[in-house]
Amino acid sequence: MVIPRAPWWRDAVMYQVYLRSFRDGNGDGVGDLRGARSGLSYLAALGVDGVWLSPCFPSPQYDHGYDVADYRAIDPLFGDLDEFDRLVDDAHRLGLKVLVDVVPNHCSAQHPWFQEALRSARGSAARNRFHFADGRGHNGELPPNNWRAMFGGPAWTRVREPDGRPGQWYLHLFTPHQPDLDWRNPEVGEHFDDVLRFWLDRGVDGFRIDVAVGLYKHPGLPDSPDPNADEAARDAVNPLAWNQPEVHGVWRRWRALCDSYAAVDGAERVLVGEVAVPTPADQALYLRPDELHQAFYFDLLHAPWDADAFALRIDAALRDIASTGAPVTWVLNNHDQQRSVTRYSRSLGLGDIPDLDRGAARARAAALMMLALPGSAYLYQGEELGLPEVTGLPRHVLTDPIVTATGDPQRGRDGCRVPLPWSGTQAPFGFSGAAGADTWLPQPDWFASYSVESRRRDGGSSWHLYREALQLRRSLAPLRDPELRWLAGPPETIVFTRGNGFLCAVNFSNSPVAAPAPGQPVLSSTPCDEGKLAANSAAWWLLDREPVRLGSGTAPGPARE
Ligand code: GLC
Repeated sequence: MVIPRAPWWRDAVMYQVYLRSFRDGNGDGVGDLRGARSGLSYLAALGVDGVWLSPCFPSPQYDHGYDVADYRAIDPLFGDLDEFDRLVDDAHRLGLKVLVDVVPNHCSAQHPWFQEALRSARGSAARNRFHFADGRGHNGELPPNNWRAMFGGPAWTRVREPDGRPGQWYLHLFTPHQPDLDWRNPEVGEHFDDVLRFWLDRGVDGFRIDVAVGLYKHPGLPDSPDPNADEAARDAVNPLAWNQPEVHGVWRRWRALCDSYAAVDGAERVLVGEVAVPTPADQALYLRPDELHQAFYFDLLHAPWDADAFALRIDAALRDIASTGAPVTWVLNNHDQQRSVTRYSRSLGLGDIPDLDRGAARARAAALMMLALPGSAYLYQGEELGLPEVTGLPRHVLTDPIVTATGDPQRGRDGCRVPLPWSGTQAPFGFSGAAGADTWLPQPDWFASYSVESRRRDGGSSWHLYREALQLRRSLAPLRDPELRWLAGPPETIVFTRGNGFLCAVNFSNSPVAAPAPGQPVLSSTPCDEGKLAANSAAWWLLDREPVRLGSGTAPGPARE
């Protein structure tokens, strides 16, 4: 059967719902499925194509759901399967796709498989679903190898054997509560086939895949070649723990499984991977036509506010990913990263004082630029409200396991996960149905001016900018053209065109520059004076003739015309 081509995902704009912080439907201070359901019409009005739901499965929540104890159920904290089904139905009625998060690299230490492994003998079938190994040293008191965990500390924890004596060690690339599964054991792959089918049969449109460069480890688990890596440094560079060639077999298998659903009803189910690899060319390997549909391109998110840095990273993605026929999946924010408003509030160079207004202007500009790039994009909840990071949360409220593992509050991710403000002037700002409910992380008073209600009332807010950009992105034919052409512009700007007659320019400097196109822009992230592009801003122009060429070869970035 010929599958009709319906590649909605190639230029989709998806919205990440970090469930515990999106909206609370039962008044316990933690976001849930009922709350998320009630927020769907808001997302439809914003104009996104769908949602990625962070994990909602039974979990002791040591890593906020990325420690899954049962892959085929809903944690009572978030609701139940009936509520989940209602959410999927409502989303589909509103024209929104739903992706769920699947976590295949590790499970929770509370997962029945791990509990069984703890009760079982070394070498047993139950232990062989994980990486159990004898320790080194005279009495096995040293970890089996020198690998470090992503969140700090050794990647191994020693267990007590059923007879009470200290025994083997198990591998966990994240916290000790998240034992890594051994994907060389076929039972693991078969289990996840069933997990995918379970959710696909409930109508989901695809999956966000956690740690998609994990799963397989180098056979024999030898020492990492970098034993002197700083204790505190994340071991994402360990070439033996990540990005093993065998993982591609999993993505081919999952793609075939998704395609088997499309073969029945013609609707493509999508796999988007968290693929943090050294280069875009490495990432392109995950996006071969029979592997993942999308992979988050994190290089742009990590770029400092600098025209060269942005241009180089965009160009590298287009050269090494888009040129293979795969879409680039742009992202500026997620639940693991400091929010862009705060990130961009600092400038390159020593002695710079953070300035949140400047950060907000830059975050808006970056978003407008991102939405003009060819490919798909993911927004993180609150980004459209222009929310800054909540800094200065007291130590005792922090919940991120990174803080526990490193003892460093600065490294925690709680500040981007504070429950969203929806309305009103006092906490919980409409997040919880129950007035006065204590939200799981405290909301600061200043959230009042960022609430959905106040942002929608303010015609000049980032909410309106995102909505207009999304509407235009849908309606403008040039933005469907996969090609991007760079143009020379004034120093500290980037300028590109799409298709026939669309131009986007970004001014990274702290002063206005001459506009690189005639007439008024159709949309700008900051109001522009006639003939100018404001400081730290981006704008879109529709051209009815060739754009004016500016600059004299001083423009940053590669491959300029
Ligand atoms: C991914 C998730 C992150 C989680 C980690 C471990 O990076 O985005 O939140 O802590 O995986 O599952």
